Amino acid sequence: MRKNIVAGNWKMNKTLQEGTAFIAELKQTLAGKSLGCDVVIGAPFIHLATIAEQAKGSAIGIAAENCADKAEGAYTGEVSAAMVASTGARYVILGHSERRAYYGENDAILSEKLALALANGLTPIFCIGEVKEEREAGKHFEVVAQQLEGTVFGLSAEDFSKVVLAYEPVWAIGTGLTASSAQAQEVHAHVRQLIASKYSAQIAEDCTILYGGSCNASNAKELFGQPDIDGGLIGGASLSVEKFLPIIEAFNK
Ligand code: PGA
Repeated sequence: MRKNIVAGNWKMNKTLQEGTAFIAELKQTLAGKSLGCDVVIGAPFIHLATIAEQAKGSAIGIAAENCADKAEGAYTGEVSAAMVASTGARYVILGHSERRAYYGENDAILSEKLALALANGLTPIFCIGEVKEEREAGKHFEVVAQQLEGTVFGLSAEDFSKVVLAYEPVWAIGTGLTASSAQAQEVHAHVRQLIASKYSAQIAEDCTILYGGSCNASNAKELFGQPDIDGGLIGGASLSVEKFLPIIEAFNK
Protein backbone atom coordinates (compact mmCIF):
# COMPACT_ATOMS: atom_id res chain seq x y z
CA MET A 1 0.00 0.00 0.00
CA ARG A 2 1.31 3.44 -0.82
CA LYS A 3 1.72 6.05 1.87
CA ASN A 4 0.17 9.49 2.03
CA ILE A 5 2.74 12.14 2.98
CA VAL A 6 2.55 15.85 3.67
CA ALA A 7 6.08 17.23 3.57
CA GLY A 8 7.14 20.79 4.33
CA ASN A 9 10.11 22.41 2.61
CA TRP A 10 11.36 25.39 4.57
CA LYS A 11 13.96 26.23 1.88
CA MET A 12 16.35 28.94 3.17
CA ASN A 13 13.98 30.15 5.87
CA LYS A 14 14.02 30.07 9.69
CA THR A 15 16.82 30.53 12.19
CA LEU A 16 17.50 27.61 14.51
CA GLN A 17 15.35 29.24 17.21
CA GLU A 18 12.47 29.73 14.79
CA GLY A 19 12.83 26.16 13.58
CA THR A 20 12.78 24.62 17.06
CA ALA A 21 9.79 26.78 18.04
CA PHE A 22 7.92 25.47 14.98
CA ILE A 23 8.75 21.83 15.75
CA ALA A 24 7.72 22.24 19.39
CA GLU A 25 4.39 23.73 18.33
CA LEU A 26 3.72 21.13 15.61
CA LYS A 27 4.68 18.26 17.91
CA GLN A 28 2.30 19.49 20.57
CA THR A 29 -0.48 20.10 18.04
CA LEU A 30 -0.20 16.62 16.51
CA ALA A 31 0.14 14.74 19.81
CA GLY A 32 -2.68 12.27 20.26
CA LYS A 33 -4.24 13.08 16.87
CA SER A 34 -4.86 10.24 14.46
CA LEU A 35 -3.38 11.31 11.14
CA GLY A 36 -4.25 10.23 7.62
CA CYS A 37 -0.69 10.82 6.39
CA ASP A 38 2.96 10.81 7.38
CA VAL A 39 4.33 14.25 8.22
CA VAL A 40 7.80 15.38 7.15
CA ILE A 41 9.65 18.67 7.62
CA GLY A 42 12.47 19.57 5.23
CA ALA A 43 14.90 21.93 6.91
CA PRO A 44 18.34 23.50 6.40
CA PHE A 45 21.27 21.16 7.19
CA ILE A 46 22.35 23.18 10.19
CA HIS A 47 19.01 22.58 11.96
CA LEU A 48 18.73 18.86 11.28
CA ALA A 49 20.41 17.32 14.34
CA THR A 50 18.54 19.57 16.75
CA ILE A 51 15.09 19.18 15.25
CA ALA A 52 15.50 15.44 14.59
CA GLU A 53 16.24 15.00 18.31
CA GLN A 54 13.28 17.21 19.16
CA ALA A 55 10.94 15.28 16.86
CA LYS A 56 11.83 11.89 18.37
CA GLY A 57 8.77 10.06 19.60
CA SER A 58 6.45 12.24 17.50
CA ALA A 59 4.80 11.72 14.12
CA ILE A 60 7.23 14.15 12.49
CA GLY A 61 9.97 12.86 10.18
CA ILE A 62 12.85 15.14 9.23
CA ALA A 63 14.27 15.74 5.75
CA ALA A 64 17.38 17.46 4.45
CA GLU A 65 16.76 19.71 1.45
CA ASN A 66 19.82 18.45 -0.44
CA CYS A 67 22.96 16.34 -0.04
CA ALA A 68 26.33 16.18 -1.77
CA ASP A 69 27.01 14.17 -4.92
CA LYS A 70 30.23 12.85 -3.36
CA ALA A 71 30.57 10.42 -0.45
CA GLU A 72 33.27 12.31 1.51
CA GLY A 73 36.51 14.18 1.15
CA ALA A 74 37.86 17.57 0.11
CA TYR A 75 34.61 19.28 -0.94
CA THR A 76 34.55 22.43 1.17
CA GLY A 77 31.08 23.45 2.24
CA GLU A 78 29.33 20.28 1.14
CA VAL A 79 27.24 17.95 3.35
CA SER A 80 27.19 14.23 2.62
CA ALA A 81 24.26 11.82 2.72
CA ALA A 82 26.04 9.94 5.55
CA MET A 83 26.22 13.17 7.57
CA VAL A 84 22.51 13.82 6.97
CA ALA A 85 21.65 10.27 8.11
CA SER A 86 23.85 10.68 11.21
CA THR A 87 21.66 13.57 12.41
CA GLY A 88 18.57 11.37 12.62
CA ALA A 89 16.98 12.83 9.47
CA ARG A 90 15.33 10.05 7.43
CA TYR A 91 14.52 11.81 4.15
CA VAL A 92 16.28 14.03 1.64
CA ILE A 93 14.65 16.27 -0.98
CA LEU A 94 16.55 15.87 -4.26
CA GLY A 95 16.18 17.49 -7.66
CA HIS A 96 14.15 20.46 -6.47
CA SER A 97 13.70 22.92 -9.35
CA GLU A 98 15.54 25.61 -7.38
CA ARG A 99 18.58 23.31 -7.12
CA ARG A 100 18.33 22.51 -10.82
CA ALA A 101 17.91 26.16 -11.89
CA TYR A 102 20.26 28.01 -9.50
CA TYR A 103 22.93 25.39 -8.75
CA GLY A 104 23.18 23.62 -12.09
CA GLU A 105 22.06 20.21 -10.85
CA ASN A 106 21.62 17.94 -13.86
CA ASP A 107 20.61 14.31 -14.25
CA ALA A 108 24.18 13.02 -13.80
CA ILE A 109 24.67 14.91 -10.51
CA LEU A 110 21.20 13.91 -9.30
CA SER A 111 21.86 10.25 -10.06
CA GLU A 112 24.98 10.38 -7.83
CA LYS A 113 22.99 12.04 -5.06
CA LEU A 114 20.20 9.46 -5.33
CA ALA A 115 22.65 6.57 -5.08
CA LEU A 116 24.37 8.07 -2.02
CA ALA A 117 21.07 8.89 -0.31
CA LEU A 118 19.83 5.32 -0.78
CA ALA A 119 23.16 3.80 0.26
CA ASN A 120 22.87 5.73 3.51
CA GLY A 121 19.31 4.63 4.23
CA LEU A 122 17.65 7.95 3.42
CA THR A 123 14.33 8.15 1.59
CA PRO A 124 14.74 10.49 -1.38
CA ILE A 125 11.84 12.84 -2.13
CA PHE A 126 12.69 13.31 -5.78
CA CYS A 127 11.24 16.33 -7.61
CA ILE A 128 10.29 16.60 -11.26
CA GLY A 129 8.25 19.15 -13.19
CA GLU A 130 8.12 21.34 -16.25
CA VAL A 131 8.74 25.09 -16.59
CA LYS A 132 6.11 27.51 -17.91
CA GLU A 133 7.34 27.49 -21.52
CA GLU A 134 7.28 23.69 -21.60
CA ARG A 135 3.73 23.62 -20.24
CA GLU A 136 2.64 26.23 -22.79
CA ALA A 137 4.21 24.17 -25.58
CA GLY A 138 2.30 21.10 -24.37
CA LYS A 139 5.55 19.31 -23.51
CA HIS A 140 4.89 18.55 -19.83
CA PHE A 141 4.37 14.81 -20.28
CA GLU A 142 7.57 14.53 -22.31
CA VAL A 143 9.60 16.63 -19.84
CA VAL A 144 8.68 14.58 -16.78
CA ALA A 145 9.34 11.36 -18.72
CA GLN A 146 12.86 12.59 -19.60
CA GLN A 147 13.55 13.69 -16.03
CA LEU A 148 12.57 10.24 -14.74
CA GLU A 149 14.50 8.43 -17.46
CA GLY A 150 17.74 10.29 -16.70
CA THR A 151 17.60 9.76 -12.92
CA VAL A 152 15.35 7.49 -10.84
CA PHE A 153 14.67 5.11 -13.73
CA GLY A 154 18.35 4.18 -13.57
CA LEU A 155 17.70 2.56 -10.18
CA SER A 156 17.01 -1.11 -9.58
CA ALA A 157 13.38 -1.97 -8.85
CA GLU A 158 14.31 -2.50 -5.21
CA ASP A 159 15.88 0.95 -4.89
CA PHE A 160 13.17 2.69 -6.93
CA SER A 161 10.59 1.31 -4.51
CA LYS A 162 12.21 3.36 -1.72
CA VAL A 163 11.81 6.67 -3.58
CA VAL A 164 9.01 9.18 -3.08
CA LEU A 165 8.31 11.34 -6.15
CA ALA A 166 7.08 14.93 -6.15
CA TYR A 167 5.54 16.48 -9.25
CA GLU A 168 6.15 20.19 -8.97
CA PRO A 169 5.26 22.25 -12.04
CA VAL A 170 7.87 25.01 -11.80
CA TRP A 171 5.35 27.68 -12.86
CA ALA A 172 3.30 26.87 -9.77
CA ILE A 173 6.12 27.06 -7.20
CA GLY A 174 5.87 30.09 -4.95
CA THR A 175 3.73 31.89 -7.52
CA GLY A 176 0.29 31.38 -6.02
CA LEU A 177 -0.65 29.69 -9.30
CA THR A 178 -1.63 26.12 -8.45
CA ALA A 179 -2.06 23.48 -11.09
CA SER A 180 -5.74 22.58 -11.15
CA SER A 181 -6.50 19.22 -9.59
CA ALA A 182 -7.25 17.91 -13.11
CA GLN A 183 -3.90 19.21 -14.49
CA ALA A 184 -2.01 17.66 -11.57
CA GLN A 185 -3.93 14.37 -11.70
CA GLU A 186 -3.24 13.84 -15.41
CA VAL A 187 0.52 14.24 -14.91
CA HIS A 188 0.48 12.00 -11.81
CA ALA A 189 -1.44 9.33 -13.73
CA HIS A 190 1.07 9.64 -16.60
CA VAL A 191 4.01 9.26 -14.18
CA ARG A 192 2.40 6.20 -12.61
CA GLN A 193 1.90 4.73 -16.08
CA LEU A 194 5.58 5.31 -16.91
CA ILE A 195 6.59 3.57 -13.66
CA ALA A 196 4.34 0.62 -14.54
CA SER A 197 5.97 0.31 -17.98
CA LYS A 198 9.50 0.65 -16.57
CA TYR A 199 9.12 -1.56 -13.48
CA SER A 200 5.74 -3.17 -12.78
CA ALA A 201 2.10 -2.36 -12.14
CA GLN A 202 2.59 -3.20 -8.46
CA ILE A 203 5.60 -0.90 -8.05
CA ALA A 204 3.63 1.89 -9.79
CA GLU A 205 0.65 1.30 -7.52
CA ASP A 206 2.84 1.44 -4.40
CA CYS A 207 4.77 4.60 -5.37
CA THR A 208 3.92 7.74 -3.40
CA ILE A 209 3.64 10.73 -5.75
CA LEU A 210 3.31 14.13 -4.07
CA TYR A 211 2.09 17.34 -5.68
CA GLY A 212 3.98 20.59 -5.03
CA GLY A 213 3.43 24.18 -6.13
CA SER A 214 1.37 26.68 -4.13
CA CYS A 215 -0.43 23.89 -2.31
CA ASN A 216 -2.27 25.35 0.67
CA ALA A 217 -5.16 24.89 3.10
CA SER A 218 -7.75 25.90 0.53
CA ASN A 219 -6.71 23.59 -2.33
CA ALA A 220 -5.16 20.61 -0.49
CA LYS A 221 -8.34 18.59 -0.02
CA GLU A 222 -9.27 18.84 -3.70
CA LEU A 223 -5.73 17.95 -4.84
CA PHE A 224 -5.31 15.07 -2.37
CA GLY A 225 -8.73 13.74 -3.36
CA GLN A 226 -7.38 12.82 -6.82
CA PRO A 227 -6.67 9.11 -7.26
CA ASP A 228 -2.98 9.51 -8.14
CA ILE A 229 -2.06 12.35 -5.76
CA ASP A 230 -0.72 10.96 -2.48
CA GLY A 231 0.06 14.18 -0.63
CA GLY A 232 2.04 17.35 -1.04
CA LEU A 233 5.43 19.03 -0.91
CA ILE A 234 4.67 22.34 0.70
CA GLY A 235 6.91 25.42 0.57
CA GLY A 236 5.39 28.73 1.68
CA ALA A 237 2.51 27.16 3.60
CA SER A 238 4.92 25.03 5.69
CA LEU A 239 6.41 28.06 7.41
CA SER A 240 3.72 28.34 10.08
CA VAL A 241 1.87 25.60 11.96
CA GLU A 242 -1.34 27.54 11.43
CA LYS A 243 -1.02 27.19 7.64
CA PHE A 244 0.57 23.72 7.62
CA LEU A 245 -1.84 21.90 9.96
CA PRO A 246 -4.94 22.22 7.75
CA ILE A 247 -2.96 20.66 4.88
CA ILE A 248 -2.12 17.64 7.07
CA GLU A 249 -5.75 17.52 8.15
CA ALA A 250 -6.91 17.50 4.52
CA PHE A 251 -6.26 13.74 4.76
CA ASN A 252 -8.63 13.22 7.70
CA LYS A 253 -11.57 12.56 5.46
P1 PGA B 1 5.45 26.49 -2.67
O1 PGA B 1 6.77 25.64 -2.85
O2 PGA B 1 4.50 25.65 -1.87
O3 PGA B 1 5.88 27.72 -1.92
O4 PGA B 1 4.93 26.80 -4.05
C1 PGA B 1 6.72 24.26 -3.13
C2 PGA B 1 8.11 23.71 -3.29
O5 PGA B 1 8.97 24.41 -3.84
O6 PGA B 1 8.40 22.57 -2.86
